[in-house]
Amino acid sequence: MAPVTTPDQTPSSPPNAPPALTPEVAEATRAIWERLKGVIPEVEWAVHAPYIARIEELKRERNAVILAHNYQTPEIFHGVADIVGDSLGLAQEAVTAEADVIVLCGVHFMAETAKILNPDKTVLIPDLRAGCSLAESITGADVRELKARYPGVPVVTYVNTSADVKAESDICCTSSNAVQVVESLGVDRVIFLPDEYLAKWVATQTDVDIIRWDGTCEVHERFTAEEIRQYRRGYPDVVVLAHPECPPDVLDEADYVGSTAGMMGYVRDRQPERVVMITECSMSDNLAAENPDVEFVRPCNLCPHMKRITLPGILRSLETMEHKVEVAPEMAERAKNAVERMLAVGRGSGG
Ligand code: 13P
Ligand code: SF4
Repeated sequence: MAPVTTPDQTPSSPPNAPPALTPEVAEATRAIWERLKGVIPEVEWAVHAPYIARIEELKRERNAVILAHNYQTPEIFHGVADIVGDSLGLAQEAVTAEADVIVLCGVHFMAETAKILNPDKTVLIPDLRAGCSLAESITGADVRELKARYPGVPVVTYVNTSADVKAESDICCTSSNAVQVVESLGVDRVIFLPDEYLAKWVATQTDVDIIRWDGTCEVHERFTAEEIRQYRRGYPDVVVLAHPECPPDVLDEADYVGSTAGMMGYVRDRQPERVVMITECSMSDNLAAENPDVEFVRPCNLCPHMKRITLPGILRSLETMEHKVEVAPEMAERAKNAVERMLAVGRGSGG
């Protein structure tokens, strides 16, 4: 006998009967297929297209908007997302979103940030297991201890953290504006949490003294400088773009360091002949679909958390209105202050 399950017990399992590829669905999704046929095999598209068509219908019925991070797979990024972006862009869009429902296709801290900024909306994340190794590396209690150890030193917190940690912070930042946020405080010393490598990158860009935490991104910490030197030996003309969550010796080898939006902007604006993106795998696929003249050398590392989000999961989320993201009001209010201070700084030199 088939086991009886509830959506909560199987958060990412597909609905029982996948929607079918009818001629109407093929017609409705043709424009997306034209864009994606260079990066998705046709046999896979036959599975994705019916989900995309059904998700579009449900978005209209629910008055929902889909915000997707740049690391989402191409069928989500190009197929169902209404707005795509880096962490800063998604936070900015969450403030102004007018739909009743925001489905956040990304990781949990991004959905939490959307809820903090727009508490009256229903914010859904399709899979609660979509976490982040940086967010896991620190708690609010850790921040309180640091503040006791360094009294009076302001706390700058990367948005890749829980609401609990943001609530203990003076101001947030993303990889786009970390340097500008640190300098906006007008002090000579800050506590910068939790990414050790981003902190080291910021320290190379400013005279402000940086006190670090030892969190790392499990995806970006795996890249090595030797790997990049190998790409350069194989492709002497290759342009190397890297995310600042990479270790310092990797960043030393890069031609450009910036947020996911910064890296995408570099490719769109400069159209390098050949590029390697030292970041999560879907970035190259998403860019390749819209930049046919750029050759992407595609070694990359997968973020297992971002990959929890799938089309069947998004459909299930819109059908069941699960999983609603909630933040306790008092904590949300304090976290919101730190996020709003960051938004006032805006986009910075990281793209
Ligand atoms: P961005 O803000 O650059 O999109 O980065 C988010 C992230 O999680 C990178 O690993
Ligand atoms: Fe977190 Fe790294 Fe995944 Fe980004 S890529 S969500 S920092 S684990």
